[in-house]
Amino acid sequence: MPVIIDCDPGQDDAVNLLLAMASPELDIVGITTVAGNVPLELTQRNARLMCDLAGRRDIPVMAGCDQPLHRPLITAEKVHGTTGIDGIEVRDPQHPLDERHAVEFMVDTLRAAEQPVTLVPTGPLTNVAAAIGRAPDILDNVERIVMMGGAMREGGNHSPSAEFNILVDPESADIVLRCGRPIVAMGLDVTHQVLASRPRIERIRANDNPVADAVCGMLGFFHRFDSAKYGSDGSPLHDPCTVAWLLDPELFTGKTCNVSVETESALTLGHTAVDFWHVTDRPPNVEWIYEVDADAFYELLTERLGRYPLQ
Ligand code: BDR
Ligand code: CA
Repeated sequence: MPVIIDCDPGQDDAVNLLLAMASPELDIVGITTVAGNVPLELTQRNARLMCDLAGRRDIPVMAGCDQPLHRPLITAEKVHGTTGIDGIEVRDPQHPLDERHAVEFMVDTLRAAEQPVTLVPTGPLTNVAAAIGRAPDILDNVERIVMMGGAMREGGNHSPSAEFNILVDPESADIVLRCGRPIVAMGLDVTHQVLASRPRIERIRANDNPVADAVCGMLGFFHRFDSAKYGSDGSPLHDPCTVAWLLDPELFTGKTCNVSVETESALTLGHTAVDFWHVTDRPPNVEWIYEVDADAFYELLTERLGRYPLQ
C-alpha cells in the first residue's frame, strides 16, 4: 500500500516512522515534514535520523511548511524537549534532505501515482492543506487520509478545548476535514488508551536491538512528562495509532460522523466538534476512532520493532 507520512517528529511521530519502516505492507513513497512539535529545521532532521536508525535510506525525506497557513507557529518543547526527540542521542543525520519542497512532492507524486496513495499526517495539517489548495485534482489520487488529531471526550491537551495538531493550524485542519476523501481520525479519545507503561517499555527493550533501545529512550523521556501531567503510568503513544490502524484496523473501533473545526473563537480555537450522536445534518466526513485494544496494539508494535535490523 503506497503511503506518504507527513510528520513533525516528536518522539511519537518518530516511533510511528520506525513502526512503518519495519512493515513491508507499507510502501513509504516519501516522508514529508512540517513545523509543529519543534521548528521545521528540527522535524526534518529528526525524520532523517529515523531513516538512519532504521537503515532505510531509500525513502526520500522532504521539508515542507515552516509555519501554519495563517498563524504564528506554536511548538511543544515542554512535551518533547528542545530536540523534539529528547531521550536519545541526537546528531547530524547521514540521510540527506531531498531538495523538493514537501508540498511540491505531494502534488507531483499524487499526480503521477498509478495507484491511489494513503496520506498519514501526524502533525499540523499545513502541508496537506497547502497541497490541496495548490492542486485540488490530487484528491482523485488520495485513497484515504489516516490522521492523528482532534479530541471529543478527552478534552484538549494544549488548550482546554483543543488537541495540539489541530490547535496549531485550525484553518488547515478545516480544509482537510472538508476535502471529501475518506478520513480516519485518531483523536485523544483513542490515543489516551495506548499508554506506554513501564512493563510495555520493558517488553520493547527485550527486543535488544538499537532501534528498540532508541524507542525505549524516547518513551522514557515522554513517560516523565506525561505521567506527571496525567497521573498515569506511561504517556499516550498518539501517532503510532495511524500506522497501527493501517496494519490492523480490527484493533480499533470507530464511528462515521461529522467532525468540524472551530477556527474563530479565541476560547475554543482548534476544538473538534464531533457529531458522535448525529444530532446535526452536517454530512459524515470522518471515521472517528474511539476505542483500541491497547495490549494488542503494543504486541504489534513490539513485534515490528523486533524485526530490526532489517534484512
Ligand atoms: C499530537 O501532538 C504532538 O505533541 C504529538 O506528536 C501528536 O501528534 C498529540 O496531541
Ligand atoms: Ca506529531
